[in-house]
Formats: sequence, C-alpha cells, structure tokens
Amino acid sequence: MTRKRVAVLISGRGSNMAALVEAARAPGFPGEIVAVMSDRADAAGLETARAERIAAVAVPRKDFSDKAAHEAAMIAAIEASGADLVCLAGYMRLLTAGFVDHFAGRMINIHPSLLPLFPGLDTHRRAIEAGVRIHGATVHFVTFEMDGGPIIAQAAVPVEPDDTPDSLSARVLAAEHRLYPQALAMVLRGEVAMDGSRAVFSTRS
Ligand code: GAR
Repeated sequence: MTRKRVAVLISGRGSNMAALVEAARAPGFPGEIVAVMSDRADAAGLETARAERIAAVAVPRKDFSDKAAHEAAMIAAIEASGADLVCLAGYMRLLTAGFVDHFAGRMINIHPSLLPLFPGLDTHRRAIEAGVRIHGATVHFVTFEMDGGPIIAQAAVPVEPDDTPDSLSARVLAAEHRLYPQALAMVLRGEVAMDGSRAVFSTRS
C-alpha cells in the first residue's frame, strides 16, 4: 500500500495536528503526515511537530507584501513537501479562491460546530447562547464559501446545562481529536470525494 502524503496547516496550538500525527503512526493508516506549515512563526504546534521529527515551517504573513504573495509561498511550501492532501487544522486565515481552487478536492478542514450551524468564530459561546442541546465538530472539503464545503464527517457532543464556552470547547476538542483522523482516513482511502458542491461516498465490501 502506498501511503499518501499529507501536509497540515496550523496557526496555533496544533492539538488536532498532533492527533493526526499520532493516528498516522498506526500501522495500516493510509497516509503519513510529511509536513506542517504555519502562517505564524510563534505557533506552538510547530515545536510539537519538530519534536515528532516532522518538517515544520513557518511562512509568516508579515514577511510578504500582500496576501497573494503569502499564499504563493504557502502553495510552494506545500508542493515542495510532495503532499497529496492538505489538512487545515486551526489554520485561521481566510483563503482566496485561487488557493482553494489549487487544492480543490484535496483540502479538508475541521470546524468546531455541527455545520451548517455556527460557521465562523466563537462557536462554543454561540452554541450555548442559542440553547442547543447538541453541539460538535465537522470535517469538510474546503470550498470558497467559508465553513461551507461538502461535509465528510461529524461528531456530536451534549451541551450540559452548566457548560461554559471553555468546558464545552474541551468536550468538542476531544471529539475533534477522534473525528479528524477518521475523516482523513476516509478521504485517503477514496471512500469519499468532492463532486462539485457534494461529497460522494462509496462503500467498499
Ligand atoms: C480547533 O478547535 C479547530 O476546530 C478550530 O480551531 C481549533 C484549533 O485547535 N478551527 C477553527 O475554528 C477554524 N475555523 P488546535 O490548534 O489545538 O488544533
């Protein structure tokens, strides 16, 4: 089995990246994490990746004159890693249509809500304020519509009456760490693919 090559883009802590790295170490996982890139030089996840002996590079936004130049450098770094697939894992920068098109069907993201509920930021506080009893996380293909691409997999957690945004965030994050490796494996095995605005699933017997 040839293991597909995966690059992970982060902006901060990198706990989802670490979960992907750990899962990909298991025998039989259909891919390997070959590189981690960050748009911030101070992203803690870069050190985590290096400690795991994974190539980790910062491509700081402030080193480039504009967004187009920064994205071109990001694309070059991803291509240099030989990645077949890109995982956004807490990458907190909006992408241009050019970047999204470049990796169409080959880039996935994890978002801390049950999309299409609560796209954008501050999802846990918004879920509590909305009074939902179920919250969770979503892995989806990345399209130009922010947090709007075809859904690959979701995990649900309960919202408890005494939850704060922090307590709910911790419960969702634990679910994210289980969900993202499962969703990545589905994509790498070809069990789900993006077809326009839809995710198409194939079951293998
Ligand atoms: C995660 O909860 C992820 O779902 C979220 O940022 C956090 C990153 O944590 N992503 C977004 O909000 C994207 N819009 P991590 O760096 O520890 O993986």
